[in-house]
Amino acid sequence: MKAVVFHDIGDIRLEDVPEPKIKEPTDAIVRLTATAICGTDLHMIRGTLPGIKAGTILGHEGVGIVEKIGSSVRNIKVGDRVVIPSTIACGYCVHCRDGYYSQCDNANPNGPFEGTAFFGGPASSGPFNGLQAEKARIPFANVGLVKLPEDITDNQAILLSDIFPTGYMAADMAEIHPGRTVAVFGCGPVGQFVIASLKLMDAGRIFAIDTIPSRLDMARAQGAEVIDFSAEDPVAALKELTGGVGVDCAIDAVGVDATAPKKGPAAKEAKLQREQFKREVKEIAPKTNPSGGNWKPGDAPSMVLNWAVEALAKGGKFSVVGVYADASRTFPVGAAMNKNLTIRMGNCDHRKYIPRLVKLVGSRAVDPAKILTQVSPLMTAIDAYKHFDQRQEGWIKVMLQPADAVAA
Ligand SMILES: NC(=O)c1ccc[n+]([C@@H]2O[C@H](COP(=O)([O-])OP(=O)(O)OC[C@H]3O[C@@H](n4cnc5c(N)ncnc54)[C@H](O)[C@@H]3O)[C@@H](O)[C@H]2O)c1
Ligand SMILES: [Zn+2]
Ligand SMILES: [Zn+2]
Repeated sequence: MKAVVFHDIGDIRLEDVPEPKIKEPTDAIVRLTATAICGTDLHMIRGTLPGIKAGTILGHEGVGIVEKIGSSVRNIKVGDRVVIPSTIACGYCVHCRDGYYSQCDNANPNGPFEGTAFFGGPASSGPFNGLQAEKARIPFANVGLVKLPEDITDNQAILLSDIFPTGYMAADMAEIHPGRTVAVFGCGPVGQFVIASLKLMDAGRIFAIDTIPSRLDMARAQGAEVIDFSAEDPVAALKELTGGVGVDCAIDAVGVDATAPKKGPAAKEAKLQREQFKREVKEIAPKTNPSGGNWKPGDAPSMVLNWAVEALAKGGKFSVVGVYADASRTFPVGAAMNKNLTIRMGNCDHRKYIPRLVKLVGSRAVDPAKILTQVSPLMTAIDAYKHFDQRQEGWIKVMLQPADAVAA
């Protein structure tokens, strides 16, 4: 079967690989009808989320049809149409029972303290082969698959695998209630779902910060007040637009590949921090391999952390879902401490949120497909990766269809 295979930093290929097999009685095999590319995949190829084993199939978003099940999978049958939560969880340890699925004690074969287990991630996360493939093995399938109603399309369901739950969890961790003023840093796919979730929770005002016109346009279309960090200083703009108070909540939907403004009033300040940012990049990504305008790490890893802490009102809430690798160690702790901020963060507990979001989409309270901008065959995955990596205008979220699904 065809799959996107990681070879090295800056080197991914679409290749023929052996089909997956059932290994444990709790496994299922799913034939994928849709998969997608996430900002997390980009960190791995750029080298800012290192440690991927050569040969690992990438991708952690998937929708498909169950083809085989092990003898311990009792709630799913062959032929069911399902969405796959990106993180892998056993469903029976104390953390899973509490809803902290990404902190499962049993899913990661390296042990309970080695981090979140997910598809297509670094060696420390399993490694598990990912979902940018024609088929995939799903461990703990009784909790690792969520059945889909017929009236939810693949174009909607693929967004329920990772990025809608992540956006929703970001808003949940920021303790949104009606009236809250919120700044969302990053208008990529995750930032767009943060905004959609804030709307569902009736946040009062939503500010969206980025610099890519099509991404800011999409944020505005969702009802956010947009700030282009290459045209304005985002902290000054947030203060000015909130009567000098700052925002109640800030959400980081950017992560380790944050970039510094190259023009506008914020560029001057960022320039002063250039040496510090350079040191951070060196520490976080000892190896990089940019080529032909692709796979370039962000040049200001802690930029959003600084901006968010500065822009928050006293006693504000900061929620971080942007991904930072273990080697990221720069955070403005003094400024945050002295403002009595509350900070929450983490890998998404996908399985906790997906059933609720399936219902919301089924009820038409929200249409996640509005954020999907590209549907491409899996065969064109590498090109699609390159466009998404360069954040080309209009390339916001890419779904990939394995060959069988395209023909169907
Ligand atoms: N916690 C989780 O479980 C989880 C799940 C999915 C994705 N993520 C992470 O969420 C982040 C976003 O993912 P995505 O798919 O939307 O990625 P993306 O790369 O498409 O989007 C990032 C956006 O941030 C913008 N940006 C860069 N520097 C900025 C700055 N200084 N200020 C404001 N915006 C800036 C970029 O222009 C881009 O639009 C990534 O770090 C990804 O790894 C986390
Ligand atoms: Zn992801
Ligand atoms: Zn568990």
